[in-house]
Amino acid sequence: MKGLRLFVILTLLGGPLVVGMLFTYEVIKVDWVSMMENQPSYRPMEDPLPVPADSVPYMADYVKYVGVPDNPVPADEVSLQRGEALYQIHCSVCHGPKGQGDGVMAQHGLHPANLTTSALDDKGMFLFITNGTPNMPPMRENLTVRDRWDVINYIRSLQAQAGQ
Ligand code: HEC
Repeated sequence: MKGLRLFVILTLLGGPLVVGMLFTYEVIKVDWVSMMENQPSYRPMEDPLPVPADSVPYMADYVKYVGVPDNPVPADEVSLQRGEALYQIHCSVCHGPKGQGDGVMAQHGLHPANLTTSALDDKGMFLFITNGTPNMPPMRENLTVRDRWDVINYIRSLQAQAGQ
């Protein structure tokens, strides 16, 4: 009788535990309703979600060969004003006030490019400004992504002024 009582107690206590374990370790797999999974998501090594069409990445760092999006910032009045202010602060010392490559630094042995005759497209310019060269400092720490597109829009307006 004692043995039977022990068996019944163990079964009552242990049974639910064992059944619980079967679910916990997915021996019996049930698709529980989970709100977290009812959304677009991706796991590591899966294709990331597409970037929303009009988004402007902030402080993202574009690395060579990884790819740069098309210029997402329209060259409106606000962008050109921001671009001009940023250009005068960060670029004119080398590239000159109108982008002709005749900034103060040109008198000190540096040969800044004439930006009004640059053949680079927006993406190429973006990478150039982001990464710099041995003679030109990388601007990724001085200019946010948005800032860089504004400066590029402004350079385009300098090119138009110079009759390109
Ligand atoms: C310290 C001087 C210096 C500053 C500041 C500087 N640049 Fe330059 N930049 C250069 C030099 C020098 C070159 C020529 C390439 C070389 O010698 O590496 C160049 C080349 C470029 C080119 C490539 C043009 C082409 O068609 O080859 C672009 C675009 C450019 N700079 C944009 C900018 C912008 C925009 C800024 C400001 C955010 C800026 N640079 C600030 C020195 C500078």
